Amino acid sequence: MCGIVGYLGAGNAVPVLINGLKRLEYRGYDSAGLALVTGEALQVTKNKGKVADLEAMLPPGLSASTGIAHTRWATHGEPNTVNAHPHLSPSGRLAIVHNGIIENYNVLKEYLLQKGHVFRSETDTEVLIHFIEDIYRSSASSLPEAVQMALRRVVGAYAIAVISADEPGTMVVARKGSPLVIGVAANGDFIVGSDAAPLVEYTKTVYYMDENEIAYLQRGKPMEVRTLDDRPVSPKLTELDLSIEALEKEGYPHFMLKEIYEQPRSVHDSMRGRLLPGKGMVKLGGIQAYENHLLESRRIIMVGCGTSWHAGLVGEYLFEELARIPVEVEYGSEFRYRNPIIGPGDVVIGISQSGETADTLAGLRLAKEKGALLLGICNVVGSSIARETHAGIYTHAGPEIGVASTKAFTAQVTVLTLMALRLGMLKGTVSEQRARALMRELDQVPELIEKVLQSDLLIQQIARQYQQAKNFLYLGRGINFPVALEGALKLKEISYIHAEGYPAAEMKHGPIALIDENMPVVVIATRKGNYDKIVSNIMEIKARNGKIISIVSEGDTQVKALSDHTIEIPQTDEMLTPLLATVPLQLLAYHIAVGLGRDVDKPRNLAKSVTVE
Ligand code: F6R
Repeated sequence: MCGIVGYLGAGNAVPVLINGLKRLEYRGYDSAGLALVTGEALQVTKNKGKVADLEAMLPPGLSASTGIAHTRWATHGEPNTVNAHPHLSPSGRLAIVHNGIIENYNVLKEYLLQKGHVFRSETDTEVLIHFIEDIYRSSASSLPEAVQMALRRVVGAYAIAVISADEPGTMVVARKGSPLVIGVAANGDFIVGSDAAPLVEYTKTVYYMDENEIAYLQRGKPMEVRTLDDRPVSPKLTELDLSIEALEKEGYPHFMLKEIYEQPRSVHDSMRGRLLPGKGMVKLGGIQAYENHLLESRRIIMVGCGTSWHAGLVGEYLFEELARIPVEVEYGSEFRYRNPIIGPGDVVIGISQSGETADTLAGLRLAKEKGALLLGICNVVGSSIARETHAGIYTHAGPEIGVASTKAFTAQVTVLTLMALRLGMLKGTVSEQRARALMRELDQVPELIEKVLQSDLLIQQIARQYQQAKNFLYLGRGINFPVALEGALKLKEISYIHAEGYPAAEMKHGPIALIDENMPVVVIATRKGNYDKIVSNIMEIKARNGKIISIVSEGDTQVKALSDHTIEIPQTDEMLTPLLATVPLQLLAYHIAVGLGRDVDKPRNLAKSVTVE
């Protein structure tokens, strides 16, 4: 949800800001803009559309040593140029970029309107910069003090960066509820970003701002950090573990395809040092101290949104099968508002690629208040969920830039598999023989995914035949039911074709009415997963002339004979099939979307990190 970048240093801000926006564009791409301190004034350029459009508007040779920039995912006000950030204060001497939502902006706006303020945009952000200037001018406070005083009156979530034409060598940044990272280059330059991606080319030394902190950056001086209630903070700098290559497409036409192809490596990285088949062990250092708590828990609640919620559903099958612990899986958005019954006997696992999803985070905070143990399964290191949970396991999938989640999902499922296996082994609910077999097979999964990727050309051909379809149905049973949901989500979000995932047997309770010769039905029919029942479901579809695209275990003949198209995945333990069956569904969605000319990495209306409710 919106990306912000800032630069304050000895060099030129413009390329840093533009490159930074490009790296953050996955967070939103409705509009983009930048503000520079040039001479005695602020120069703002902004536009509806993508960062490339903004870049094309900039005059050649534009230069400034202080600037802020923004790429927007619209919340308040339609995505047009007026609503684009940066926003200026009434005098035009202060500029702000903001990621988040000012919930009480109406109250503040009313107060300012009564004082004669005139607003150009419909945004909450413009209200905030007016409010900051109101305090700045009336209380003779310094800029950081004025920002601090204003933010104390603000309800909502924000990461902001403010610059002033009157103090060209300074910048004030603050965070509450939305992430913000400050990079410090060797020469003292500051680069600020919503995540570390805009910083990595310039420095690896960073400070991940904490909640309710405000930082005052001045050229040539160390940063000063305080809490909003004015306690000094000594910022702990950390070393970034992120390479530029990880942020580039490296020859792939889209990040999504690169990330699909990265899965043998990312799944391997999720297991590295954790799965030790030679020793017959699974070791999860991140949650070791809480294993007894988990074993004694009366139930586990997994909380997530979108694809991460689907990973939680796979986790439910894994935990119940292997560790015999009851599991509930909740959408963050529902869980947080439902007055759920949670207590100290519960363990709540937050699953999130970004670690910033507002609804998941709010659900976790609620569970914490009620005394539950919180664990996090996050990809982004240092993210809010990773920091607010008691303990957790990073997925180590590497940066995921395509908006549609692919490698993050398989990494989440891998971590959940390891957790379920570890708990099952400790509890004795999985026999030693099965545990060893599962460990051996899990160890093979990266290679098996490599094999699945070899079907890419076949999947591309299938995609071509069905890209004009108006609807798709995805069916699966057992542990592959969530995979059907995930396949449908991938297709709809990047191709804009309507798709639904269903438990295969539920089809006859309604969706079967939709089936005719124009309806492609993707069926996950692996050998051990209620195979005979799935065969019956396929027959029911064939009897109504539906088109079957089946995902089957290698060597299958029965489903193959009934299908219009078949994609084989290697045989493995049924509990591990989601890690394989997901991959052809990702590729199918990808090729259909490419065939339709969609912007695969930046699908319309979406953003990667949803930091608003
Ligand atoms: C789908 C997708 C979204 C995210 C969801 C949660 O491809 O990317 O559905 O899964 O917004 O995001 P995280 O995992 O960052 O909490």
